[in-house]
Amino acid sequence: MDRIYLDNAASTKLDPRVAEQMWPYFSEMYGNASSLHGFGREAKTAMEDSRAKLASFIGAKPKEIIFTSSGTESNNFALKGIAFANREKGKHIIVSTIEHDAVLNPCQWLEGQGFDITYLPVDTDGLIDINVLKKEIRRDTLLVSVMHANNEIGTIEPIGEVGKICQERGIYFHSDACQSFGRLPIDVNAQCLDLLTINAHKIYGPKGIGALFIREGTRIMPWQQGGGHEMGLRSATENIPAIVGFAKAAQLCIEEMEHETKRLLALRDKIINSVLSDFPFSYLNGHRDYRLPNNINIGFAGLEGDAIRLLLELDEMGIAVSSGSACSSNGEHKASRVLSATGLDPVRARGALRVSLGRYNTEEEIEYFLQKLSEVLGNLKSITSIII
Ligand SMILES: Cc1ncc(COP(=O)(O)O)c(C=O)c1O
Repeated sequence: MDRIYLDNAASTKLDPRVAEQMWPYFSEMYGNASSLHGFGREAKTAMEDSRAKLASFIGAKPKEIIFTSSGTESNNFALKGIAFANREKGKHIIVSTIEHDAVLNPCQWLEGQGFDITYLPVDTDGLIDINVLKKEIRRDTLLVSVMHANNEIGTIEPIGEVGKICQERGIYFHSDACQSFGRLPIDVNAQCLDLLTINAHKIYGPKGIGALFIREGTRIMPWQQGGGHEMGLRSATENIPAIVGFAKAAQLCIEEMEHETKRLLALRDKIINSVLSDFPFSYLNGHRDYRLPNNINIGFAGLEGDAIRLLLELDEMGIAVSSGSACSSNGEHKASRVLSATGLDPVRARGALRVSLGRYNTEEEIEYFLQKLSEVLGNLKSITSIII
């Protein structure tokens, strides 16, 4: 069997239908969207069509979509842009403890700039508590940021409820939807969102392109100055092939969502149920039901210290899984910040295996993975019990 990729939460394979759509914008229609000639006009048309398409998928207006280089940039822009544009209203921001580093690190930086950050706790399944959120809101709270779905444990947060609370109190609400966009329905009006981060490389689109939805009328400070691109909010020559690819990738995900969700749920639950029943020492991290259809995060009691070994042995067999969040891993194996936030002890928080499914995974691959996992766990367990 060829190599098996089960790390789709880290990044996905570019869909050939997306690549096909992008290619002419490298080879024939390579103009700068700001140029007045034909080359420029065709680039601009492609960009505006893509903007309109992306906007329609989340119930937004085209002018509310700002292209960026990534989910990371969109999160930075949302947090810093809102904080600095609304300083006279207050200096308090609320975020959940299980946000991606692309939210938490800008927050840490904002603390250094005099802003006050409250970190909302989560329960053992990784869910925030709406009542705690209500209690933490102050007169000077200007922004709440809660991710739609977590990248490590797949837990889906009640963002519609958070949005409603923020709307009632006149507080801006941002959500990082890098893991959920294209996998779960999103409606910025029904979910009362003011800002939403999305990107393309998690949905079979190209890397290095993202967008920030900014509701019309939102006070936000541009974070990158230059030629005034993107309605003056984000200067830089727009990456037209990537923008076209982003919109095509999103379109395919939206069109295929219903069918793909059913397929992924069956594969996800097959893995969860098989592992939990075959290995009584295993346990599931994250919420059992409020969970992304492609996420499995499992720990193996007694083998936590061997999680990296498990990962490397599977890799030797051609199977790619993750021990947590790829974006933040630098080769070091620390306890997962997200698992620690759910209350797992430091040993257990080091020992998770994340399997994230995608469009190209087949049932045959899942059977093969389960068979190999069983072999590797059997070996590790016998080594561990001999040592013990
Ligand atoms: C939830 C979440 N937010 C933000 C990011 C960062 O996105 P990008 O890789 O486009 O910078 C990621 C990527 O792993 C993510 O999973």
